[in-house]
Amino acid sequence: MLLVLSQTLTILSLLIFPALVVGNGVQTRFTNERHESELARTYHKVQSSTSHESSSQRDLSALETNFYTTLRHIRFPNHRIRVKKTVFCDPTVNVYTGYLDVDAGAKHLFFYFFESRDNPDRDDVMMWINGGPGCSSSMGLLMELGPCSIDMNSTSSNGTLWNPYSWNQAANIFFLDQPVGVGFSYADYGESIQTTEEAAKNVHAFITIFFETFTQFSGRPLHLSGESYGGRYLPVFASEIYDQNTIARREGRPELNLQSVIIGNGNTGISTLYPGRYEIECGTAALEKPVQSISNCVRMKTALPRCQKRMQQNCLDQFDLINCRAAIDFCDSEISAGMWASGRNVYDISKMCVGDDLCYDEITLIKEYLDMPKTREVLGVETANNFTACSPEVGVDFGTHMDKYNTPTQFHVAGLLDRGVRILIYAGTYDWQCNWISNKMWVDALEWSGSDEYSRAQWRDWTVRGRVAGEVKATPLLSFATVRGAGHMVPHDKPEESLAMIRKWLKRQNL
Ligand SMILES: *[C@@H]1O[C@H](CO)[C@@H](O)[C@H](O)[C@H]1NC(C)=O
Ligand SMILES: *[C@@H]1O[C@H](CO)[C@@H](O)[C@H](O)[C@H]1NC(C)=O
Ligand SMILES: *[C@@H]1O[C@H](CO)[C@@H](O)[C@H](O)[C@H]1NC(C)=O
Repeated sequence: MLLVLSQTLTILSLLIFPALVVGNGVQTRFTNERHESELARTYHKVQSSTSHESSSQRDLSALETNFYTTLRHIRFPNHRIRVKKTVFCDPTVNVYTGYLDVDAGAKHLFFYFFESRDNPDRDDVMMWINGGPGCSSSMGLLMELGPCSIDMNSTSSNGTLWNPYSWNQAANIFFLDQPVGVGFSYADYGESIQTTEEAAKNVHAFITIFFETFTQFSGRPLHLSGESYGGRYLPVFASEIYDQNTIARREGRPELNLQSVIIGNGNTGISTLYPGRYEIECGTAALEKPVQSISNCVRMKTALPRCQKRMQQNCLDQFDLINCRAAIDFCDSEISAGMWASGRNVYDISKMCVGDDLCYDEITLIKEYLDMPKTREVLGVETANNFTACSPEVGVDFGTHMDKYNTPTQFHVAGLLDRGVRILIYAGTYDWQCNWISNKMWVDALEWSGSDEYSRAQWRDWTVRGRVAGEVKATPLLSFATVRGAGHMVPHDKPEESLAMIRKWLKRQNL
């Protein structure tokens, strides 16, 4: 059995890395793991070697579904990627799942990768991450923009329904459970990531090894997308990639072709969060009439200047852990408590909260589905831990550092724009949590080389099949789009509109 596996690996290595066959003198950056026993432990099903010989493909579609192939990269000696082909969610494309093992194999980041339904050989590559901090990207996959959606009405035999509005209609897309401790990602010894900046190092390593592994995608335009806490994650991740590219260029190594960052209902410029929330529940920025009581709104309005001033002094002008926390506690109790008490869905104020704290029935079903032994076997999930949509430990770890407040992430956005990385900020108008008003406020105030041009640009409607989908203000590098009548999870609420938006963004067309 060990011999069979060993032969299998050799054949696979030839299929995946034609350079090895050609022997053109280029040093191969990967070496296949020869630890057969480790592979055998990971995945028990033994292959018959004939199935490989019949394959003539020279890329990763030659991978097997029943065990992982392990790949390494000399630049990341402490990392390796384990990947397999997976029959999951979208039967119309090649699908892969696997882990990036980081830090000498002690931490394992889980990913799902779906090739584009349109033209996988030419389409751009996109990463999607959910927020939290601590939320699994499988939520985005299974209830927002992924190739399939969790089956809410038990009409399908496999637990999911094919999503015609998936963003893989237009791009090759991977979903990453990060940081370690989120979703199916796990650490052998329970270590955790404490800050976004720390998480960025793993994400950069992941994406670098990803492109070296999926060689047919090397050099392809890359877009980082996500929502919510992604508004903090993505600008930092993109900045790490940009800065590492500069080093790579100097050292004559391949760069990542980072093109754009796409943030949905993000929390990027936190100084505007509370005034935005006030406008959503006490003004008419979301619905035609305010949803909050007059007495609560008066209390909020009265507290707002003090909240803003304290945040400015203790979180923004100079970050002080203890005083910033006190400021946020004050703001939360005076300005946010009323909304939480209202029973409304804080991610979509047009609805009441259902299910658990996250307010969506889908989440319970996603958890059940991802806890099924069959699903886990198909995906190749190793951890025995029950699935958690949003892992509170990650939130707590991040919380001890006040990761959300301690770095002004809008400065990363300005830095990226000044270096030519395109940024799309979009926001569903019914969200309270990371609302469109607060996003508009920080984007309007952003200082960067194109800020004059941006402030002169006009707001206009954008439409999908003749219907108004929202409003947009755009310059070649920076676009801000609202999605009318959508909550926090825009692709969940407005699937067709969100796909239309993404298609145009990727093609550099005006919305
Ligand atoms: C599921 O059923 C509900 C109520 O019967 C319906 O409103 C909803 O559209 C259905 N969802 C799907 C995806 O078919
Ligand atoms: C699951 O079932 C649905 C409907 O029955 C089908 O459209 C979809 O393609 C199936 N998914 C997979 C991965 O086979
Ligand atoms: C997972 O959940 C099941 C049932 O809810 C429980 O019996 C089991 O102990 C849990 N497993 C772990 C590893 O927490």
